[in-house]
Amino acid sequence: MVKLGVIFRRLTNQDFKLLKLLERALFRFEYVPIEWIASRIDMPPKELDARLRKLRSFKVIRKHTTMPAYRLTFLGLDCLALKELVDRNVVAALGDKIGVGKESDVYKALTPDNKLASIKFHRIGRTSFKKVVLHRDYGLKFERSDWLIRSIISGKRELEALRILNNVNALVPNALGGAKHAVVTEYLEGVELYEVKELLNPKDVLWNIIETIKKAYKEAGIIHGDLSEYNVLIVISDEKEIPYIIDWPQWIAVVDPNAQNLLERDVRYIVRFFRKRFRLDISEEEVLRYVKSE
Ligand SMILES: Nc1ncnc2c1ncn2[C@@H]1O[C@H](COP(=O)(O)OP(=O)(O)OP(=O)(O)O)[C@@H](O)[C@H]1O
Ligand SMILES: [Mg+2]
Repeated sequence: MVKLGVIFRRLTNQDFKLLKLLERALFRFEYVPIEWIASRIDMPPKELDARLRKLRSFKVIRKHTTMPAYRLTFLGLDCLALKELVDRNVVAALGDKIGVGKESDVYKALTPDNKLASIKFHRIGRTSFKKVVLHRDYGLKFERSDWLIRSIISGKRELEALRILNNVNALVPNALGGAKHAVVTEYLEGVELYEVKELLNPKDVLWNIIETIKKAYKEAGIIHGDLSEYNVLIVISDEKEIPYIIDWPQWIAVVDPNAQNLLERDVRYIVRFFRKRFRLDISEEEVLRYVKSE
């Protein structure tokens, strides 16, 4: 396992220059030809060669199997995002990895004023990455399906949703900033709902979740779209159990043709979970009516 923090600290400004150049080329090349790199960077060929070798050994870039061409890896993009977050004073230090989701890596971090934060690096296509790259060839093609680009879009979407939701005081993590595919929020010292076997007040917790769904729907105009017991964190504060809804990149607007379906599904999953786990008898229809009412 390569450690992001260790690799990050060993990268120099010159290394970052090269990584930034590869990032600039993301929208133009699958793999960036060496001639393109050499003509755009002020670096003697020998140094360029040595640096490319170093970056490959750090696994922040990857070389094409047959051509002299290179591309950023997810780890490379992580380093670039982290650099931007540090330079912009959003984050001061990186901590432990706290989660590996299907589509993200989440780390603890510290802000410049010593508050705990969470950095979520989006990872779209993690599972199918290798297969997809194998089937594409080297060339001057830009495909919108590129996984790094899609991860950047996913990160931006999540940050956008969190900012809108923060503005209406919904129970979601406070957004602190973002860069490329990374989203920084306040760190929530909590437990994922699916791990919670007992609650003092399951009914209050459920209705707090429903309030958040309603706020998002009515005031922010958005629907989560992937709500389940895996995307709710229970935080204990002043002996109260407070549910935060996390993981928003797939949100959709209430005007989307599929909005009602997704709203119903979100409500159904949550209500069913509370029915099964905490024996709460609340009907999905009643909740839906409440969410849509004034
Ligand atoms: N702000 C936060 N504070 C504390 N922990 C967090 C925070 N955000 C995310 N996490 C942790 O990281 C995990 C993954 O986050 P999230 O659900 O946003 O990503 P994901 O890639 O969709 O994960 P999965 O695919 O497992 O749903 C969460 O379940 C939670 O344990
Ligand atoms: Mg999740």
